[in-house]
Amino acid sequence: MTDNIAGSGEPLVDIVGVHKSYGEVAVLKGIDLTVAPGEVVCVIGPSGSGKSTLLRCVNELETVDRGAIFVDGSPVGSSIVAGRLRRLRPRQVAKQRRDIGMVFQRFNLFPHMTILENVAEAPVRVRREPLAEVRERARALLDRVGLAHLEQRFPAQLSGGQQQRVAIARALAMRPKLMLFDEPTSALDPELVGEVLDTMKELVATGMTMIVVTHEMDFAREMADRVVFMDGGVVVEQGTPEQVLERPQRERTRKFLTAVLSATP
Ligand SMILES: Nc1ncnc2c1ncn2[C@@H]1O[C@H](COP(=O)(O)OP(=O)(O)OP(=O)(O)O)[C@@H](O)[C@H]1O
Ligand SMILES: [Mg+2]
Repeated sequence: MTDNIAGSGEPLVDIVGVHKSYGEVAVLKGIDLTVAPGEVVCVIGPSGSGKSTLLRCVNELETVDRGAIFVDGSPVGSSIVAGRLRRLRPRQVAKQRRDIGMVFQRFNLFPHMTILENVAEAPVRVRREPLAEVRERARALLDRVGLAHLEQRFPAQLSGGQQQRVAIARALAMRPKLMLFDEPTSALDPELVGEVLDTMKELVATGMTMIVVTHEMDFAREMADRVVFMDGGVVVEQGTPEQVLERPQRERTRKFLTAVLSATP
């Protein structure tokens, strides 16, 4: 947890009136959310509430239908021309996306590359940084997630938890200003969840700005500056972990928490 006070200064992420539908199905129905630099925001909510869709919109993997998302002052997927939002070309969108790291539920490592190559790949290929320099950085990142000794292994030779730690190192190799996590531990065997959460906690300690979709209530309670509860495509309630998890104001939040906590062994 950081000392950051939500709302002080310019937000790093500013989500304004975002709507998103798939065909007839409205998935996001007017989301307003800001994330301050260095803030850790955990997003919780039932399946289908739009959590992944929201993250995907922040990263421009999806395009919003209405509203806008600003990251570090720039509209995601657009530029402002003569006071109006104009869509960026795919190449420009890809460039914007480099500043945002994303870790998904399923580790999406390249199976034919060693883990060192996996971590070094994007800075070399996308940013055209010198290989020797990137390798050193990749080694340092693998060391940080406790996997330096396995750098020559291939993903299939690693446990799920180790693969997910590589995925985090790989995202960090691009020096992102924002990290998005979409249920990074929910595909893992229970005994492997802790090591990935520990890696994320270390990242929190570095002051990284993070939006974390998670069902790990202990992580949210311990690490989040703010917890956001989503249901039915809207933010139902948000506040400190204490406010939302211990003293929820809304009936929907209470129901969700009761269901989640009773399902936890
Ligand atoms: N590409 C898509 N095409 C059509 N419908 C989609 C698409 N992606 C998501 N949806 C629908 O949007 C709704 C919200 O999905 P989303 O994945 O954002 O929910 P979620 O909160 O992340 O759920 P979960 O906790 O299960 O991951 C769901 O009803 C889903 O079926
Ligand atoms: Mg999801």
